[in-house]
Amino acid sequence: MDIKISPSILSANYANLGAELAKCSAAQLIHLDVMDGHFVPNISIGPPVIKALNKFCDIPFDVHLMISEPLKYIEAFADAGADIITFHVECDSDVNETINKILECGCRASLSVKPNTPIEAVYPYIDRLSMVLVMTVEPGFGGQSFMADMMPKIEKLRADFPDIDIQVDGGVNAETIKTCAKAGANVFVAGNAVFSSENPSATIETLMRNAKENFRN
Ligand code: DX5
Ligand code: ZN
Repeated sequence: MDIKISPSILSANYANLGAELAKCSAAQLIHLDVMDGHFVPNISIGPPVIKALNKFCDIPFDVHLMISEPLKYIEAFADAGADIITFHVECDSDVNETINKILECGCRASLSVKPNTPIEAVYPYIDRLSMVLVMTVEPGFGGQSFMADMMPKIEKLRADFPDIDIQVDGGVNAETIKTCAKAGANVFVAGNAVFSSENPSATIETLMRNAKENFRN
């Protein structure tokens, strides 16, 4: 199974995002956190910034929508260059309609669960998803502590769906990535771990090595 490291630019220097992105050439995905100040208490970036960044980056973009009404904005994010659109099963939009819209727009659909949501919440939609995101922090901010008690959700999902991409997001670093990989996750978001390190490129390589060494098929 493919292992992917996905740096989250939420922890990057927003005054110089182009240069920050250039440090991620070893990554397999780029994670873009979109927050509306309603679904989560924080506000981040929207389609114009993603569109600008997409122009000089060949790595696929995974746009993580932490917004209450994702359905309203799918077209805008697809136009901005999203390859994967991840949204939350807890949102206010109709989940089926939102997945349909993502697929109609030519993107891959991914569904996420917050820490208090059981993993079974994504099961009715699984056939049309290319990825499931298991949050290992409460969404909203970078740099929070990893919640190891989310691992049983990953183990169950991996046992039930051996082929789906399982992503983890929140507090992933060179140590916690081992725990996630052992549980069966194969796509790893890392914000603080990458962008607060002296050598983001070397950190991405370390994350990849530790994930590969610990991933259980
Ligand atoms: C949190 C975001 C994450 C965040 C992760 O709500 O969804 O993608 O950037 O940051 P770290 O890796 O620092 O926990
Ligand atoms: Zn995220």
